[in-house]
Amino acid sequence: MATIVLLDDNIRVKVSDGTTLRKVALKTGASMEFGCRVGDCSTCVAYVESGMEYLNEKSEKEHKVLQMLGEDTRELRLMCQCEVNASEGEVLISYRLA
Ligand code: FES
Repeated sequence: MATIVLLDDNIRVKVSDGTTLRKVALKTGASMEFGCRVGDCSTCVAYVESGMEYLNEKSEKEHKVLQMLGEDTRELRLMCQCEVNASEGEVLISYRLA
């Protein structure tokens, strides 16, 4: 099981490989916000403080949407497009970007 830490809500959960971050947010009641849920709007953008290697790769579409934000996108992810891609490890996520 991998560990997902949602820093802004002080939530720590263990999840299995393939679990989506959207499901984690819904099940834990996290305050993370979602809009389109299909990777178009960037409402769900979040900063992965560590553990990016335990998540799925960004798709071309996700890259393009993140680049439109005009920031360094290396540590950014769209939570609606993320899923755990590991059976262990820890992912720290912050989503109240200022
Ligand atoms: S909710 Fe729109 S990009 Fe994730």
